[in-house]
Amino acid sequence: MDRIERLLGEMTLAEKLGQMTMVASGYAVTGPVIVGDSTESIRAGTLGNLLNMVGVGHVNEMQRLAVEESRLGIPLLIGLDIIHGHRTLFPIPLMQAAAFDAAAWERAAHEAATEACADGLALTFAPMLDVARDPRWGRSAEGAGEDPWLTARMAAAKVRGFQGASLDSAHALAACAKHFCAYGAMTAGRDYAAVDVSDRALREVYLPPFEAAVKAGVATLMPAFTDIAGVPMTAHRALLQGTLRGEWGFDGVVISDYNAIAELIRHGVAADLTDAAVLALKAGVDIDMMADAYRKGLPKALEQGRVTMAEIDTAVRRVLRLKQQLGLFDDPYRRGAQPEPTAVLAERHRFARAFAARCAVLLENRAKTLPLPANLQRLAVIGPLADADAEMRGPWWGAGEFAPHVGVLQGLRANLPGVELRHTVGVAVTGSEAGDDADDGKEDVQGGIALAAALCDDADAVILCLGESSTMSGEARCRAEPGLPGHQLELARAVIARAHTHGKRVVAILFSGRPLVIPWLAEQADAVLWAGFLGTEAGNALADLLVGRVSPSGRIAMTWPRSVGQIPLHYAQRSGGRPENPADHYTSQYLDMPNAPLYPFGHGLSYTHFSYANPRVTPQHVRRGDSCTARVEVTNDGACAARETVFLFIHDVVASVARPLLELKGAATVELEPGETRTVEIRVDAEALCFPGLDLRPTWEAGDVDVWLGPCADRMKLLKTTIQLQA
Ligand code: GLC
Repeated sequence: MDRIERLLGEMTLAEKLGQMTMVASGYAVTGPVIVGDSTESIRAGTLGNLLNMVGVGHVNEMQRLAVEESRLGIPLLIGLDIIHGHRTLFPIPLMQAAAFDAAAWERAAHEAATEACADGLALTFAPMLDVARDPRWGRSAEGAGEDPWLTARMAAAKVRGFQGASLDSAHALAACAKHFCAYGAMTAGRDYAAVDVSDRALREVYLPPFEAAVKAGVATLMPAFTDIAGVPMTAHRALLQGTLRGEWGFDGVVISDYNAIAELIRHGVAADLTDAAVLALKAGVDIDMMADAYRKGLPKALEQGRVTMAEIDTAVRRVLRLKQQLGLFDDPYRRGAQPEPTAVLAERHRFARAFAARCAVLLENRAKTLPLPANLQRLAVIGPLADADAEMRGPWWGAGEFAPHVGVLQGLRANLPGVELRHTVGVAVTGSEAGDDADDGKEDVQGGIALAAALCDDADAVILCLGESSTMSGEARCRAEPGLPGHQLELARAVIARAHTHGKRVVAILFSGRPLVIPWLAEQADAVLWAGFLGTEAGNALADLLVGRVSPSGRIAMTWPRSVGQIPLHYAQRSGGRPENPADHYTSQYLDMPNAPLYPFGHGLSYTHFSYANPRVTPQHVRRGDSCTARVEVTNDGACAARETVFLFIHDVVASVARPLLELKGAATVELEPGETRTVEIRVDAEALCFPGLDLRPTWEAGDVDVWLGPCADRMKLLKTTIQLQA
């Protein structure tokens, strides 16, 4: 009999429910503060999983209690939110998406897994795969933006990176596809709010990234806190048992979100913890994170005959199998046994710096303000995010809390040694004033702004560092007005006005975990560079970009609206019967502004200019099962080498169901020297031209499909060619 079946035969109900329970340890590198009685439960074998613990010493201490002191010696599964790096932080996922580089996404996950395993961890609650189309939502920071095709590719790359070739490697982390599903479509951009999406939106937008994660072999999955049409995801049998496990064949471990099983009571679908436990177990949730509903509710449910021991065994079996796949039974101390050599860390930081430079997005660059001139002597570096090293972490910093991060001022000092840097905060990130010395607090807002404006007078150029703190995005951090917080717009107005009276240029560097609503700044600043949050090497990467050592190449993965009033706003809109036509009043438009966003999906400038020519697709007549190759000539018309990302969108012109005007189906990145022309090829399997028909089943429909090739989701900048799908 194999180990798992043998253990199942020996386990008491309390030991089984312990394997279905996960409790948080007080997360601190300095030492575990275990919540509640966990150490006793671990010894008693009635707790099988922990989260939020870091440090191989503490992890092994807890592991030893389980392996050497409990009756059956079942090892613990210990997890942490390793979202964009463990101790070395990479750009937040929304910025990583902007690189459109699956190899880099995978490498970043692999590096994070290596560091996390060195800390004794075996599970991360990542990748987050929620398609986000509402910048008010703070968790936009954690995902790959608005497009399902892009998010699906990020999903597969992250699963490969975290899990590697085999889960039992000492450098492998079990990944967790979260939050299943449609979490990003919550009402009014407010976290945890109700979700109502069509079955079509589910099939076309919100499910594909999770299906991609399952196909890539993701070991675990986490349902969202939210409901869909009144059915909370934690109890959603149709999607968890029907689609996830039945249709897709996922047989991994489903871990509830934090206390989510108990929250079925607040949702109004469970009267008490027993009800909640029954609903979650029937839906296929294997581990109860932090609600203690399984340990408290299932014994009673078993007595009442509302659940069976077989259902409990199914969950326990999956958990034990995951621990076995991770090699935890064979050697529970394998992860963390070997400290990492310092040379590895140096190389990791080199990658982090290069990747961060690739993720930043140049939104504006008037009159080639950037790169900064080589003969620069004095820079005014102004704003609340100029000397804010810790803010570079982004909203999920995990164990990165204690690692040093390079901010803008530090990066400029290190990389522009001969340039005099003069800095003032101007105003605080939000709310009240901050004088030149932020500690004094006696300066009022106007005083801080006046000081900042004066700094422009004898500077050669101005760097204005604005935006959000790292804790203004992420979970439970939504903003109804996602513009520049506090008095920062006043600061920007004063600084830009002063600088321009002296003929000085202003480069605004924006920090945020979401698209910001910044129409005025976008028009008035001479250059705008979106840094999102770039992680440990942020300041060095930004310096590389500012001086032109690297040309920006990032492309936004989430539309930037001109106004909150336009939200939800994304590129993949359907036409409707009366599409926007300024010449016709009775069409879909506003009285007070155009429908167009401030920046469309895929927008991003570089220090050169690229031109496109001669788009074509072969074969032009496509049968189901074929694969098509799109080609287009791309030329670097400028004077510096740079990377260009070419997108392939389709539009099914006439179909049984109205199709979006643009759907992303491919992307390719190319590096071109000045004057170089290259034919860029993007392959698309014909299956990708199928879509869910009226019955929501994949359908192939003969007819014309327009193929659009170019730099962003703006038809004015795309080249069109047409293929014919054959019956
Ligand atoms: C949080 C988040 C989830 C995270 C979990 C554990 O509430 O919703 O993304 O993985 O709890 O920290």
